Amino acid sequence: MAILKIARMGHPILANPSVSVEDPTNPEIHHLISDMIETMRDAPGIGLAAPQVHIPKRVVIFYVPASRMPDGEKEIGLTALINPEIVALSDEMVIGTEGCLSLPGMAGKVPRYTHIQYSGLLPNGDKLVVEAEGYHARIVQHECDHLNGILYPMRMEELSTFGYTEELQKSADQNGAVNNDE
Ligand code: NI
Repeated sequence: MAILKIARMGHPILANPSVSVEDPTNPEIHHLISDMIETMRDAPGIGLAAPQVHIPKRVVIFYVPASRMPDGEKEIGLTALINPEIVALSDEMVIGTEGCLSLPGMAGKVPRYTHIQYSGLLPNGDKLVVEAEGYHARIVQHECDHLNGILYPMRMEELSTFGYTEELQKSADQNGAVNNDE
């Protein structure tokens, strides 16, 4: 395992679509996922996409802490998803604060679908299909965007809400932390 260097916004690897993985059970993919997990934990962050570590393959990892789930629902454990796909299950969108390990120290308010279904392959080759809402849905949309060369500022409608986390926290109404990096 190794901690990998994280690409920052402006690096072309983040602006281009990544390619599908042919065989999710390939040891090289498992090695990549292990390194991504170590890199994400070191950062620390709660999600990471392979192009962020300079590997243009359709692989994402994420987890959702219990504090980000609705009351009474348990956390979403660490998930590695290969060739993920997202379908919005309603047109409803909600604005929420996001950060990204490729834009260290910054955050902004981003509209995302509130209710999605995502699918993809697990490292053992099994297919995963999950319905997600709220923050869970948000993080999956954020990570999958990375695979299409999209960073969260490109989704923002109000650039006036984009800034340095430290400054935003000073003026935040404490409605939510702005320090979860994806
Ligand atoms: Ni990100």
